[in-house]
Amino acid sequence: MSTKLSSVWKWLSLIYNFIALYFNNCCIHGFRYLVKGMLMLLERFLWLILLSISIYFCVVSCLSSVNRFQTKSTHIGIERNSYKWNVSLPSITVCPMQRLNDSRFAAYCLEHNVFGKDRTELRDFLEQLANSTYTNFENIPEYESIDHTLKNLNIEPENYMELIYNLTWDATHSEESGRVRCTDGSYEIRVTQVLTEFGLCYVCNTFLGLEYSASYVLFGEYPQLNGVLNESTMLPIKHGAFFEKDTGFTLIGFTNKAIDTYLHSPHDVMRLDSNFGYTEEGSAYELEIEHITTEPNLEKTTSVSQRKCRFFHESNLEHYPFYTKNSCSQECRLNLAYKVCKCIPHFYPNSRVKNPKPVCSYKILKSCFPKHAGLFLKFYEANGHHGKIDECICEQNCRDSVIRLTKASVMRGSQMLLRSLGSSALVKFWPKNQFKRQVIFSFTDFLVSLGGTAGLYLGFSVLGLIELFYFFSMRLFWHIFGYQI
Ligand SMILES: *[C@@H]1O[C@H](CO)[C@@H](O)[C@H](O)[C@H]1NC(C)=O
Ligand SMILES: *[C@@H]1O[C@H](CO)[C@@H](O)[C@H](O)[C@H]1NC(C)=O
Ligand SMILES: *[C@@H]1O[C@H](CO)[C@@H](O)[C@H](O)[C@H]1NC(C)=O
Ligand SMILES: *[C@@H]1O[C@H](CO)[C@@H](O)[C@H](O)[C@H]1NC(C)=O
Repeated sequence: MSTKLSSVWKWLSLIYNFIALYFNNCCIHGFRYLVKGMLMLLERFLWLILLSISIYFCVVSCLSSVNRFQTKSTHIGIERNSYKWNVSLPSITVCPMQRLNDSRFAAYCLEHNVFGKDRTELRDFLEQLANSTYTNFENIPEYESIDHTLKNLNIEPENYMELIYNLTWDATHSEESGRVRCTDGSYEIRVTQVLTEFGLCYVCNTFLGLEYSASYVLFGEYPQLNGVLNESTMLPIKHGAFFEKDTGFTLIGFTNKAIDTYLHSPHDVMRLDSNFGYTEEGSAYELEIEHITTEPNLEKTTSVSQRKCRFFHESNLEHYPFYTKNSCSQECRLNLAYKVCKCIPHFYPNSRVKNPKPVCSYKILKSCFPKHAGLFLKFYEANGHHGKIDECICEQNCRDSVIRLTKASVMRGSQMLLRSLGSSALVKFWPKNQFKRQVIFSFTDFLVSLGGTAGLYLGFSVLGLIELFYFFSMRLFWHIFGYQI
C-alpha cells in the first residue's frame, strides 16, 4: 500500500515539476509567480486571483468577439454617388382574370367525352378554381355533377394544378397579335408564365430567372421559347441610369376581360396582399425605387447568419427551388394552411418536393379556408380582444428594392386602341440614395480582436499557443525519457 502511495506521489511531483517548468518559461506573464519557490504563499495567492480575473475577462471579451463575428459582422451603409448607378426597374406581375383557353378546354372535353350540362358546369368550376386564392375560395361553385365528372376524369386534388396548367395557354407563345409581351419601346424584355398564389400569371422584368417559371416549379422543365422570338435580342431586365429621362416598360397583350396587377421588387415574387388593382382597362403606374445592394464579395466571405439575409440560390425552402423573402412567407402560409386545414391549396409547387403535402379538395377549400382568410393572408387572426399571431421568420433578400407608387392612372381606351390590356411601369425620378450591405467585422478583424484581447489581458500570442503545444507534446516526450532541457 505504502509503496503504491509513494509511487503516486512520485508521479504527481513529476507532473508538478513539469507544469512548473512550463509556468516558468511560458509567455503568460503572471504564471511564473505561482511557482516561484521564494515567494510567500499570500503573494502567490494574490497572483492566482489576478490571473483568474484576467483569464475571466479575456474569455468574456473573446466570447463577445465570437458573437459579434457570427451575428453582427455586416451592416447596411448608405451610398450617395447616384450618377454611377445602374438602376433596375421594378417588376410587374399580371394575372389575367380569365384563365382557361376555350379551344384547349373544348379539345379536352372532346377527348374525355364530357358534354352538355356537365361540360358547362365543369368549365365554370375549373375557371373559378384556377382563379381562386385566399380571398375568394368561397366563390368556387358547387354543382351536383362535379364530383361525378371529376371521378370519371380521374382528377384527384393532386391533379388540379396540372389540369389547370394543361388547359391554360402560355400566352407568351401566341402569334404576334395576341402575344403577351413586355416592351420598353425598342427592346423586348423577357416575360415568363409563373405559378403564384393567384394561379398562373405573367411576370416581366425579374432577376429570378427561369426557376420561377410555372413549368419549372410544376414539372422541372424550363419553359420552351417562343419559336418566333430570338432570345438573344431580349433583355432579361431593364436598367436605367441617372441621365436617362423617364424610363419604363409595358407588359401588354392580354386579350381577357380584366387583369390584376402586382408591382414588386425585381428580386422577389409578388405578394398577394399588395394588389395594385383589378382593372378592365390598361393602367400606368409611376414608381419610385430604392435599392439595397451588396459588396461584391459579400456572398463568399460571410454566412447567412452573419449577414442575416439570403441570396436567391441559397434556398432553405421546401417547396421553392430558390429563396426570396416573399416565397418564404408563401411557404409559411402554406404550412399554416396545412396546420389549420390539414391540407394545402393546389397552387403551390408540391409534386416535386421531398414530402408532398396532401392537396385540398375544392370542398375543403370552400369550407375551411374562408373562415381563416385573415390568418392566412396577414398571419394574424382577430379573436375577440386577443389576436392570434403566427410568427414567420423569413430572412431578408440580400439584394432587394423598395417600391413606392407615386401615381396610378388608367389608360382609357387602350382596349380599343391596342386590342389588348396591359400595365406599364414608369420611373421618372431616379433614387438619390442606395443601401449597401457591407462587412464591417471580417475574419481578419476577428482574429486581430481575439489576439488583441488575449494580448491585452494575458500577454498571450500565437507563438505562445504553439509553445503550449510544443511543451505538452515534444518536450513532454523528451522529459519522460529523462532529457532535461
Ligand atoms: C447597366 O446594366 C446594363 C445591363 O446589365 C449594361 O448593359 C450597362 O452597361 C450597365 N451600365 C453601367 C453604366 O454600368
Ligand atoms: C388557346 O390555345 C391555342 C393553342 O392550344 C392557341 O393557339 C390560342 O391562341 C389560344 N387562345 C387564346 C385566346 O389564347
Ligand atoms: C377572379 O377573382 C377575382 C378576385 O377575387 C375577381 O375579381 C374576378 O372577378 C374573378 N374572375 C372571374 C372570371 O370570376
Ligand atoms: C396534362 O398534359 C400532359 C401532357 O399532355 C399529360 O401527360 C397529363 O396527363 C395531363 N394532365 C391532366 C391532369 O390531364
